[in-house]
Amino acid sequence: MDPQLCFVYGTAWKKVATADLVHQAIRAGFRIIDMAAQPRHYREDLVGEGMRAAIIAGDVQRSDLLIQTKFTWTSGQDHKTIPFNPDASIPLQVRQSVASSLYNLRSRDNPESVNEAYIDCLLLHFPLPTLNQTLQVWTALQKFVPSKIRTLGICNTSLPVLQALFRAKSVTLKPSVVQNRFHAETSYDWDIREFCAKENVIYQGFGVLKSNKWLLSTQPVIKLAEEINTTLEIALFLLISEYPNFQILNGTGDENRMETDLKLLQQFKEWKVISHNSDMTSLLHHQFSAVLMAGH
Ligand SMILES: NC(=O)c1ccc[n+]([C@@H]2O[C@H](COP(=O)([O-])OP(=O)(O)OC[C@H]3O[C@@H](n4cnc5c(N)ncnc54)[C@H](OP(=O)(O)O)[C@@H]3O)[C@@H](O)[C@H]2O)c1
Repeated sequence: MDPQLCFVYGTAWKKVATADLVHQAIRAGFRIIDMAAQPRHYREDLVGEGMRAAIIAGDVQRSDLLIQTKFTWTSGQDHKTIPFNPDASIPLQVRQSVASSLYNLRSRDNPESVNEAYIDCLLLHFPLPTLNQTLQVWTALQKFVPSKIRTLGICNTSLPVLQALFRAKSVTLKPSVVQNRFHAETSYDWDIREFCAKENVIYQGFGVLKSNKWLLSTQPVIKLAEEINTTLEIALFLLISEYPNFQILNGTGDENRMETDLKLLQQFKEWKVISHNSDMTSLLHHQFSAVLMAGH
């Protein structure tokens, strides 16, 4: 995978700093930007502002970016800021939420440019209480594909819900992305990641640093950090980046880290091409997988 696509820039909890941080992340080289139509945790409007600032400055074109946002059902919303009518039918809620996202994510400042706006991936933030409701959201989202939304995905899913989306007759567009917390409590999603690999679905992991402090004191992480003279956090990112089809959510608010995280990932991919390093990386990655499987 292209190193720029190994990280997804996460924009949760950035509040009023969101626009500047998004612009900085794009300048640093991030190309996938994650958010949600959930004002309680994300400023989607300011992500759009940061993206437009980067386009106007000539740092990127809209087509260089992969912009992903989410439909967050009512139970995940603050009722004072919800971007759709919570009393409307589910399909109407989806249409209103997507319309608001398209407006926020227009690539030019003038409001009319919303007509050209599109979203690269729209994720369902979490399955609804029943499969029938989840399918109602999915079929409403499908209607925007391909002109307004390019691909669909799902977050915080279990394997049975994911499999149901693959089996349901009403689902004509299968999920392209699964975004879940990557942590020991779900046994690092081995079953889901296996399913994703088989179905060619990208797995995006969040909480990689926050939920896995214990991994920083494990042997493969320490050994790789020593070997390439980097931090334990970066070594953890690098070992995870060795899983094919795995993208890491990275929401750093530190401009230097934005640059070093990407630069070190690029250097690591070049370093490990040398055969001795490649053997060592395979061995450490194998040991790392064993640590995850033991999963304390
Ligand atoms: N789908 C969902 O339900 C869901 C839920 C949660 C999050 N997300 C997404 O995932 C994104 C990431 O969230 P997250 O919970 O994984 O955490 P995060 O916001 O990425 O926070 C990671 C923490 O690690 C630090 N950090 C980053 N790079 C580092 C490095 N190289 N060395 C040391 N520390 C480093 C950051 O500090 P500094 O800022 O100081 O660098 C920050 O405190 C969110 O913004 C959101 O887009 C999705």
